[in-house]
Amino acid sequence: MRSWVIHASDQIRGSIRVPGDKSISHRSLLLGALAHGTTEVRGFLRSQDCLATLAILRALGVEITESADGRIEICGRGPEELREPETVLDAGNSGTTLRLLAGILAGRPFFSVLTGDASLRRRPMRRAVDPLTAMGATLLGRAGGQYPPLAIQGRQLSGIAWPSPVASAQVKSAILLAGLQATGETSVTEPMLSRDHTERMLTAFGVSVRREGTTVSIPGEARLHATNLAVPGDLSSAAFFLIAAAALPGSELLIRDAGINPTRTGVLEVLEAMGARVTRERERSEGGEPVADLRIRGARFRGAKVGAELIPRLLDEIPALAIAAGLAEGETVISGAAELRAKEVDRLSAVAGELAKLGIQVAEEREGLRIVGGRRLRGAVVRSRGDHRMAMALAVAGLFADGETRVQDVACVETSFPGFAELLAEVAPGCGIQEIEEA
Ligand code: S3P
Repeated sequence: MRSWVIHASDQIRGSIRVPGDKSISHRSLLLGALAHGTTEVRGFLRSQDCLATLAILRALGVEITESADGRIEICGRGPEELREPETVLDAGNSGTTLRLLAGILAGRPFFSVLTGDASLRRRPMRRAVDPLTAMGATLLGRAGGQYPPLAIQGRQLSGIAWPSPVASAQVKSAILLAGLQATGETSVTEPMLSRDHTERMLTAFGVSVRREGTTVSIPGEARLHATNLAVPGDLSSAAFFLIAAAALPGSELLIRDAGINPTRTGVLEVLEAMGARVTRERERSEGGEPVADLRIRGARFRGAKVGAELIPRLLDEIPALAIAAGLAEGETVISGAAELRAKEVDRLSAVAGELAKLGIQVAEEREGLRIVGGRRLRGAVVRSRGDHRMAMALAVAGLFADGETRVQDVACVETSFPGFAELLAEVAPGCGIQEIEEA
C-alpha cells in the first residue's frame, strides 16, 4: 500500500496549473467518438478514469491517437460505426465512464457488458438503467439492474421526457447521449441543475440544445460535427490547493486556467462565506466553458452553512470543505447531502470517521455533517478508504496538524489527479510530503 507522510507547513505560495477537468475530458472523448470528423483535444486529463473511457472507446473500434505534446485526436465516424466489443468493458473506478457509456451503448444494436472495480460495482445504476429501459433498450444488472456488471442489448430508441429524481450529471448525460440516437426529442428535468458540461459541449458539436429552468431538451437523430476543444483546469482538483492556501494566513496562491463553470463554483462561494479572499482574473470563455485565473489569499476562517441548494454545485468538494470547516472558528453545518453516500465511498461516513482521528469535532447526520472547528489539528494515521478525494483532503489536513500525518492508501489519487503530491511539495515545500510503501 502507498502512503504519504506530511508535516505542517507555515505558508503556501506560488503560481500553478492543475490538470484538465475530469468531466470535460471524458465528454471530449465520447462526443468526439460520436461526431463526424476529427476532434482535437488539448489539456486532456490523462488520469486512470479518463483513460478507462479512452480504452473502452478503442474497444468499440474508435481510432484515437495521442501525440507527444499531450494532444488527443479522435477520429469520429458517427455512432453507426461503433462495433460490438468482443469482451467485457472495464470502467475501473469511474462512474462517469460507466453511466455515460451505458447511454451510448443503449442506442447501438449490439450486446455489451460494462463493469468496474469493487467500489463501482457497489454504486447505484437504476437511476440510469430505468430511463434507458424506458427508451427501449434492455439493461440487466445485479439486484434488478442496480449494480454492475450491466449487460446491455441496445436497439433503436425512442425519445422521452424524463423527470430525474436526483440532480445527477451522469444520469442526465446518459439519457442525452441515448437521446442523440433516438427518434424524436429527449428531455431531462432535474430537481436542481447538475453540472452542464454535456449540454455546453453538445452545443459546440453543433447540436441545438434547449434549456428551460432545470429541463434540457435535444432533438433526436442528431448529427455531431467534429470540433477542437481545450480542456480547462479542474476546479475540483484546484479546490484542495484553494482551501490549503485560504486557511493559512500569509499565504498567496495563483491557480491559472481553472474552469469556473457556475454549476461547479459552489466551493468558491462557501470559501468566501467562510472569510477567504478569492479573486478571479483574466476571465474568458474557451469552447463554451468559462475559465479564469484564481488568486487566493490566506485568512482566518469562520464556520458556514452549506444547504441542499448548494450541494450539486460543490458535490465533489465536500471532503476538502470539511477540512476547511475543521480549521474554521465555530460550527459548519452541511445538509441535504445524501448523494455523498453514493460516491466512490460513502463520503459522509468516511469524512466523519477520518476527521475525528485528526481531533476535529465532527458528527455524521443522515444527510449531512456537523463540524465544530477552531482547535489545532493533531497529526494521525488516516486512511483514504480507496477514495481519491478523501486522500487529497486528508493530505491538506496534514499541512495544519501538529506532528506527522500519515495518509494511507493513496494510489487511488491516480484516478483524477496524477502529480498531486509533487504539486503540493512545490507550493508547500515545508510539508516535506513523502510517499512511502507500507505493508
Ligand atoms: C460527474 C458528475 C458527478 C460527480 C462526478 C463527475 C460527471 O456525479 O460527482 O465526480 O462527470 O458527470 P453524479 O452526476 O453522479 O452526481
